Amino acid sequence: MSAATNPPKRLVSLSVNGRRHDVWVTPSELLLDVLHDELGLPEVRYGCGEGVCGTCTVQLDGRPVSACLMFAVQAEGHAVTTVSALLGAGEELHPLQECLLRHGGAQCGFCTPGMLLTADSLARRGGRPSREDIRYELVGNLCRCTGYTKILDAVEEYVEGAERP
Ligand code: FES
Ligand code: FES
Repeated sequence: MSAATNPPKRLVSLSVNGRRHDVWVTPSELLLDVLHDELGLPEVRYGCGEGVCGTCTVQLDGRPVSACLMFAVQAEGHAVTTVSALLGAGEELHPLQECLLRHGGAQCGFCTPGMLLTADSLARRGGRPSREDIRYELVGNLCRCTGYTKILDAVEEYVEGAERP
């Protein structure tokens, strides 16, 4: 009987929040694990691991994706954005974060990074999304605390606001 061998690792170059990272990964290593464990980004969180809760949401080239459903090798050549990229140069809060705070749309905060990145992606697409559009966009981001109304209020205020970075 032959001994089990580990799959060979491959050097992958990832662009995360505008910085390049070269990491050795196995073909089956998830983007979520690489971001959280290898690159030390605690805001990319493990929730369900099945693409259902949205807790692990990051942006890939500006579009929200579940990092638990992607292999790290698939992110090579794409721009990955996590919630820390929303902060200003002096770590000041993004206006979307300000809206969320003002409306009480974050309680335990576990869902908040994913929620913010999905809402930010919607806002960046431009136009004036309706409340229904916002609700539809956020349907994949689950929150156990807020009841959603405050989150919808916050995002609605943000997308209606003229000031966007
Ligand atoms: S942990 Fe990825 S969607 Fe739940
Ligand atoms: S604020 Fe707690 S899960 Fe959303």
